[in-house]
Amino acid sequence: MNQAALAGILAREQQAFAATRPKSRGLARRASAHFPHGVPMHWMRDWGTAFPLFVREAQGAELLDVDGHRYVDFCLGDTGAMFGHSPAPIAQAIAAQAGRGLTCMLPAEDTAAVGEGLAELFGLPWWQLTQTATDANRAVLKLAREVTGRSRILVFNHCYHGTVEETMVVRGPDGATLPRPGQVGRVQDFARSTVVVEFNDLDALTAALAPGDIACVLAEPAMTNAGMVLPQSGFLAALREACTRSGTLLAVDETHTLSAGRGGYARAAGIAADLLVCGKAIAGGLPCAVYGYGEAVAERLPASESRREPGHSGLGTTLSANPLALAALRASLAQLMTAENHAYMDRQAGHLAAALTAAFTARALPWRVARIGARLEFGRGAAPRNASEALAWIDQPLQAAMHLFLLNRGFLLTPFHNMMLVSPATTFDHLERFLAVFDETLDEFAPLMRAP
Ligand SMILES: Cc1ncc(COP(=O)(O)O)c(C=O)c1O
Repeated sequence: MNQAALAGILAREQQAFAATRPKSRGLARRASAHFPHGVPMHWMRDWGTAFPLFVREAQGAELLDVDGHRYVDFCLGDTGAMFGHSPAPIAQAIAAQAGRGLTCMLPAEDTAAVGEGLAELFGLPWWQLTQTATDANRAVLKLAREVTGRSRILVFNHCYHGTVEETMVVRGPDGATLPRPGQVGRVQDFARSTVVVEFNDLDALTAALAPGDIACVLAEPAMTNAGMVLPQSGFLAALREACTRSGTLLAVDETHTLSAGRGGYARAAGIAADLLVCGKAIAGGLPCAVYGYGEAVAERLPASESRREPGHSGLGTTLSANPLALAALRASLAQLMTAENHAYMDRQAGHLAAALTAAFTARALPWRVARIGARLEFGRGAAPRNASEALAWIDQPLQAAMHLFLLNRGFLLTPFHNMMLVSPATTFDHLERFLAVFDETLDEFAPLMRAP
């Protein structure tokens, strides 16, 4: 099969998509009068369809579009709905709170219970809430700079921690820090603020931390945003050790790796973070994120408070930690992020990963599956050591065509990558139906998947 054949499949699938979704097409046309490309947030155009799919309802692991098509959803809002769409405990908590106050710039009654729950779950004593993981990461970087008196941070190449400008960087060929391409209206001098090294490169990390001028390393414990890159044996422990040695704080972003199990990836790996961020699914899909810190930060805060002149801290937003978010977070802590739910998700995702691996092996396709608990990703080539290697294997046109093929047959995958999430609402039947259609997908695409 060649590129012309791929273009042929894509054209056929685009036509099938458009022909069977007149209501989505109509809504797209109408919404385009006031929303560029008809969407209220521009990432919603990234699905590779001729016009966006409009959603009528999302429930559990399924989604219903306005034309009446039902999908099994393995994207799950790119993690926000990792515990299922509108889980009953969250819907009930929101409904109970909705008539009792939505925002009031005072702590809601649920606050103390939420603090206790977060401390127990993640093992850090001190917490604050934000609306998004982006905002939580921004706050964590500011805090780290404040207490260390150092201005630079370190991130791993091709990381993603939200739209925090100083983390939207890549490593240039000579090791220089370059802005990630495509950013709108950027102002940062990235080389001054940020050092970038490859994930799993302990020598480069140690050398970068050695001068003792890095406030914090901000890292996903396993990378999930440029293909899935798992830490090599001993890397996370060595990272922790290198941070401690150089007086650098370790900030762990568990926003995606919460899929690993109760309390996230780092905790399961026995790595103690100084600062921790988690967003997206943390409150069952309601906009909310959290950041926490331990004694390495807390013990230095009084001194920094006494140094700081009076005025706005530059942290926080008006609607953060509103009563609705606290109610949802409390319900999520008690009823969603449970050992039982994680065990179920892990089992289901394990079954899916094994079946995908078997399907690749049966056809002698050079593809593999990586998994972090409930989250898995399939891709071509050997397991990558870093995101540069992961990205080198990704074939965007092929990926887009496979996703559209699956979408037309009732299965949603995350548009940005071959990532699949399994929720507590994902049944064995969902998985079996997907695997049958995935077999058809391989019938169609195997020749291209084999190409170098
Ligand atoms: C690891 C990680 N951190 C933070 C974020 C930012 O989340 P949000 O877009 O909800 O602010 C993302 C988003 O994909 C992420 O993957």
